[in-house]
Amino acid sequence: MADDRSTADGEVYLPTPEIVSAAHVPDWEALSAEADANYVKFWEDRARELAWHAPWQQVLDQSNKPFYKWFVGARTNIVHNALDRHQKTWRRNKLALIWEGEPGDLRTFSYHALHREVCQFANVLKSMGARKGDRITIYMGRIPEIVIAMLACAKIGAIHSVIYGGFSVEALHGRIEDSQSKLLLTADGGWLNGKIVRLKSIVDEALQRCGCVEHVVVVKRTGHEVVMEQGRDYWYHDLLGLPIARTDGDRCETEVMDAEDPLFILYTSGTTGKPKAIVHTHGGYQVGVATTMKYVFDIKEEDRWWCTADPGWITGHSYVVYAPLILGTTSFMYEGAATFPYPDRWWKMVERYGINIFYTAPTAIRGLMRFGEAWVNRRDLSCLRLLGTVGEPINPEAWRWYHRTVGKQRCPVMDTWWQTETGMFMITPVPSAPLKPGSAGRPFFGQQAEVVDESGKPVPDGEEGFLVLKRPWPAMLRTVYGDPDRYVQQYWSKYPGRYLTGDSAKRDKDGYFWVIGRVDDVIKVSGYRLGTAEIESALVSHPSVAEAAVIGLPDEIKGSVIHAFCILKAGVAPSPELADTLKQHVGHEIGPIARPAEVRFVEKLPKTRSGKIMRRVLKARAQGMDEGDVSTLEE
Ligand code: WT7
Repeated sequence: MADDRSTADGEVYLPTPEIVSAAHVPDWEALSAEADANYVKFWEDRARELAWHAPWQQVLDQSNKPFYKWFVGARTNIVHNALDRHQKTWRRNKLALIWEGEPGDLRTFSYHALHREVCQFANVLKSMGARKGDRITIYMGRIPEIVIAMLACAKIGAIHSVIYGGFSVEALHGRIEDSQSKLLLTADGGWLNGKIVRLKSIVDEALQRCGCVEHVVVVKRTGHEVVMEQGRDYWYHDLLGLPIARTDGDRCETEVMDAEDPLFILYTSGTTGKPKAIVHTHGGYQVGVATTMKYVFDIKEEDRWWCTADPGWITGHSYVVYAPLILGTTSFMYEGAATFPYPDRWWKMVERYGINIFYTAPTAIRGLMRFGEAWVNRRDLSCLRLLGTVGEPINPEAWRWYHRTVGKQRCPVMDTWWQTETGMFMITPVPSAPLKPGSAGRPFFGQQAEVVDESGKPVPDGEEGFLVLKRPWPAMLRTVYGDPDRYVQQYWSKYPGRYLTGDSAKRDKDGYFWVIGRVDDVIKVSGYRLGTAEIESALVSHPSVAEAAVIGLPDEIKGSVIHAFCILKAGVAPSPELADTLKQHVGHEIGPIARPAEVRFVEKLPKTRSGKIMRRVLKARAQGMDEGDVSTLEE
């Protein structure tokens, strides 16, 4: 990828006076100073803007670090803020969701309608035995039912675990098993690039490998023929037609939760192959996501918001589902591929639905840039007011293209840095702040970030180091599901008292942060987070492979792509066909996003004397670069 970020430091884009005067935060410096002086009070004041069934006794409990607690003693449910309270205001009649399917079908839900659907489905879940604290796995495409399913779980106090619909058999199996879900909510399929993604058959195969799931609820989306196992599988529309849903019907009490009760778990990739589920809670999370969305995307009643992320990722959880609904926003959601049937599909929908705030990923921008400006210019995008990006560093060239071609130089670009673990934006501009293409700006109000060396000492401005966060925040992860030691080890042990992000970064003289990328065994492919260990274990699960190592190498569009190095079992001959088979095998086990761009066969892998694969050395060799310090290399 052409990274011209080092030259972009001096390039600054200032907001227009109209943007500043209309913004929720007209003066970054003033609010930042205020929040910095007392971040606990800052968050307490923001929490007061939401509804609580009972107030907190303490805003932040730091007595058992790093197991921080927020809004201690408070009672709430995020669904009460996202749906219930709007029913008593004029917003019941406002659109909550506008949805377009890839084939062009359209569905809309007012806040009233979404609430009704969620209540009906919550009643169905209860009738199937779901209770507070149960884990429920959701595996669907981008259809309205995924939103309904998540909210229905949260409403009854069950913990949803959404698995991205692009994952496949083994990734799905491992995550269902780890969460011990008894219920699985899915769809027959989804539309992508004019083809059907056969979700239900992936489910069938995954369930052959696990024992915990008792019932599967299937939304009919594509209508192709699927196998329905008697006594296990039920059609969503059949269940909604049953007396249980009809008579209790449109009403379902929202379970009143403790602020610290888990809302969802979400699996993400780490340094080992074992699935790692991040735990988020009802209380702090709702305050964090609503506040960040309101300030960073300057949400007003009349806006139409489109975040292109899939609900299966944290971006979808926080900024497709929860934050927009809490703020009473109208969101747009699209099922399929950005370039189907033509590369102007997204812009056509921006025009058609009058989207004025648009939030996507650098990889998507780079992918669309490739087709040229004419596709964008065919559509009237004058409705746009603000743009955003997330997922990986954006190269200034893509930033400028986005700003110029999509935003017509009128729309500030919010480059938001955050993670599954942080739940909400952590380093980000607001529309009134000066922007530097390629930098996510400064920490959000109340937060402090630092770039440190191996020993934890801050490095001078302009030098690269490890990015850490210095203060707790309300939407922070509370633990790793079922593995509190891993939580402490992974995030809080290297520099006690500071949160380790896993990224490297630089800070410039103006306090702007320039994130460089992951420093651990996580690879970002098209902004999707993948672990080397999970891909390696998929490769080794193939009968021909004895050992495998994977690395990420730079790619113009995807940011990085996977390259795999395999040692074959004795007697297995390397061949181009076998390389293809292995690529397909990884696609089948983990998902198409994890499929290696290249598989190479090797006799041995560079390892330390203790047997750890030195991926850094593989990477340097593959790029013809200096191998660096190889004193620990065996042989
Ligand atoms: C990693 C977290 C949270 C949204 C989706 C990603 C990278 C994220 C940016 C950005 C540079 C970014 C980091 C981070 N990242 N946003 N604006 N600039 N890098 O969540 O899958 O948990 O990945 O994404 O490397 O650690 P995630």
